Amino acid sequence: MSEHVVVTRADGLLTLRINRPEKKNALTRAMYSAMAEALLAADAEPEVRAVLITGGAECFTSGNDVADFLQAPPVSQDSPVFHFMRALFELKKPIVAAVAGAAVGIGTTLLLHCDLVYVSRCAKLKMPFVSLGLCPEFGSSLILPRLLGHAKAAELLLLGEAFTGEQAASWGIANGVLDDGLATLEKAAAMARRFQQLAPSAVAVSKQLMQAPGREELRQVITAEGELFGQRLRSPEAIEALSAFMQRRQPDFSKFL
Ligand code: COA
Repeated sequence: MSEHVVVTRADGLLTLRINRPEKKNALTRAMYSAMAEALLAADAEPEVRAVLITGGAECFTSGNDVADFLQAPPVSQDSPVFHFMRALFELKKPIVAAVAGAAVGIGTTLLLHCDLVYVSRCAKLKMPFVSLGLCPEFGSSLILPRLLGHAKAAELLLLGEAFTGEQAASWGIANGVLDDGLATLEKAAAMARRFQQLAPSAVAVSKQLMQAPGREELRQVITAEGELFGQRLRSPEAIEALSAFMQRRQPDFSKFL
């Protein structure tokens, strides 16, 4: 349970709404745990035909809570963020995301594990892991170079370049671009509700078939990234970068060899 994650069930949909606007929907350990619990429940409830993930009409999520990264870094693969991402990765039912505003860090990474993604035109997606002294996570170092080619993936993962909703759609990260956050939410919900009319086992088997090639390799990469990410979270580089964010200053990496 977390006051910052609103879970609702209606029309065959389980909706997870990230709701911490004062921190741009930054994700805490309690929020990951609440989302993991809801996802596990979704697979167990026959009346749920699809899952919708949203941060509302203004902001998807600014990523992992930076204070949590400093105070309670997820260095074990038993941490709440791993429970959440494992539940997302293993979910048998279709997952639809509605992305408005910022989708930073894990906010972009998690989209790579959704089935359908709708974004607002002014959405700003970004994976600033290297800028934070960290490294890619949850399969993005495998998925993005395959999807985009090494050169484009290097801009996104090494330089941490931001990209728009339009770009996300043109690169195959998103299905469609809508004019604003509300339209994005409505479109994503409408698409997710379509699963209510479909045969649930046929959907589940088809999703499984689409995921099967390369699945084991992806699992191994996720584990390897997780170990490195945990090590990096304790590194002086990451501590400098994360402290700089909290202190609203630029990080100084000049002292690192
Ligand atoms: N963790 C903790 N707090 C966060 C946060 C995060 N990931 N993202 C934003 N916040 C907090 C800010 O510290 C600020 O708190 P305050 O009002 O108590 O000072 C509040 O949310 C508003 O953020 P602010 O940066 O002022 O809003 P903005 O509209 O100028 O920018 C973002 C929004 C999302 C672009 C910017 O906050 C950002 O880039 N955050 C991303 C942090 C990050 O690197 N996340 C990735 C972790 S891998």
